[in-house]
Amino acid sequence: MPAHDTLDLVIRNADVVTASDRFQCDIGVRDGRIAVLGHDLPRGAREVDATGLLALPGGVDGHCHLDQPMPDGLRMADDFFTGTRAAVCGGTTTVIPFAAQEKGGSLQAAVDDYHRRAEGRAVADYGFHLIVADPTPKVLREELPALIRRGYTSFKVYMTYDDLKLSDREMLSVLEVAKENGALVMVHAENADCISWLTDKLIGEGRIAPRFHGLARPAAVEREATHRAITFAELVDVPILIVHVSGQEAIEQIRWAQGRGLRILAETCPQYLYLTADDMGLSGDHGYEGAKCVCSPPPRDFENQAAVWRALAGGVFSVFSSDHAPFNYDDPAGKQPGGERPSFDHIPNGVPGIETRLPLLFDGIARGKLTLHQFVALTSYRPARLYGLYPRKGTIAVGADADIVLWDPARKVRIANAELHHAVDYTPYEGIEVTGWPVHCFSRGEMLVEGGRYLEPLAGRGRFLAAGVPVMD
Ligand code: URP
Ligand code: ZN
Ligand code: ZN
Repeated sequence: MPAHDTLDLVIRNADVVTASDRFQCDIGVRDGRIAVLGHDLPRGAREVDATGLLALPGGVDGHCHLDQPMPDGLRMADDFFTGTRAAVCGGTTTVIPFAAQEKGGSLQAAVDDYHRRAEGRAVADYGFHLIVADPTPKVLREELPALIRRGYTSFKVYMTYDDLKLSDREMLSVLEVAKENGALVMVHAENADCISWLTDKLIGEGRIAPRFHGLARPAAVEREATHRAITFAELVDVPILIVHVSGQEAIEQIRWAQGRGLRILAETCPQYLYLTADDMGLSGDHGYEGAKCVCSPPPRDFENQAAVWRALAGGVFSVFSSDHAPFNYDDPAGKQPGGERPSFDHIPNGVPGIETRLPLLFDGIARGKLTLHQFVALTSYRPARLYGLYPRKGTIAVGADADIVLWDPARKVRIANAELHHAVDYTPYEGIEVTGWPVHCFSRGEMLVEGGRYLEPLAGRGRFLAAGVPVMD
């Protein structure tokens, strides 16, 4: 090989696993991309021995919240630096958080602001979803189609939360724009009126502790909205993705729709595999600490956890995301707004999980819950395709970005917040032991994590990824 063709990096003896294949080879990297997969490759400028480790494509976290502007003095604990630092330490090399439109504001302004927040801070590569909160005629006819053409090809809409929710008619209009422009709509499916009615009743009865969050958002509320969103998708004849599905009742709706040939895609998250309503203190009051696990839809029970595991293995879900929503617990800008311990309806929703997403799912492989190939498909390959980043991301193949994570499948780790790299003061998964850990992480051929140790790469090395057309297979 001529000197100018010298490989920058050779990963030797890799046991490569993609969504479809498994093979042993050396991986040669040049200029940030995989240049060659083969045997007995010439010496590279840097050599890493992967004997005994699995080489997986870097994770793609298709749903996380980083430095998202918040109302009412709230503030997310993670910005693009700390959030992506935690991501790469957990084996995720691409993140896709949300540029959120304010009601009365423009989408373009949200995107411009979000670029400013990411630039100079991100360690991992990143794309943006949009949140469409105010679909005015100008947004629908001008801003949204123009942004789709420029690489923002997925957007989230909410059926709940006063500052974000759309009416049914607005939902239909947004879906129509997605259909006309080949974009993907992600739907937060919970019935807003049912939630506010139940909330008022609970508060009126003095039932204000965090544990009542789960009673204000029962499975029926998610089931109804899931069915309604499916109906909208059917009427407009466009695929949708139902995000953060929490359990059996919503799964049944999705499976029913998929069985009818409708293109209904679905996402779930670690909190629905590992948390239950008890973690918000539902039975037995462990007081305000339950706020740490307040998210929407709420965690349910062990039977629902089992249903989510089965649906992951059974192909109901396309993607497994963190829904990382980083609010500190001991913080007036976080879970204790204004320094108070308010009624459950004023607790900011969401749990952190950008670093623990992959290990928590990987642990299911050793327990026979899913296969290695399913793991790669759910956490890297399918999100890369859905969000228009494949084949640059989501696989190990010649020409792809050298986003490679070397996993020790036997390493046992007890999750402890003190060891994590986010800026949040807790993890809901404290004390859980997992088997399998991402020990080395490369992004575009640059080693960012070695033996589990974060190597302090330059903040701002992460690049913005304009998304191509979503592939919804
Ligand atoms: O509770 C959650 N999931 N908070 C984050 C925002 C969202 O709806 O995804
Ligand atoms: Zn949501
Ligand atoms: Zn979310």
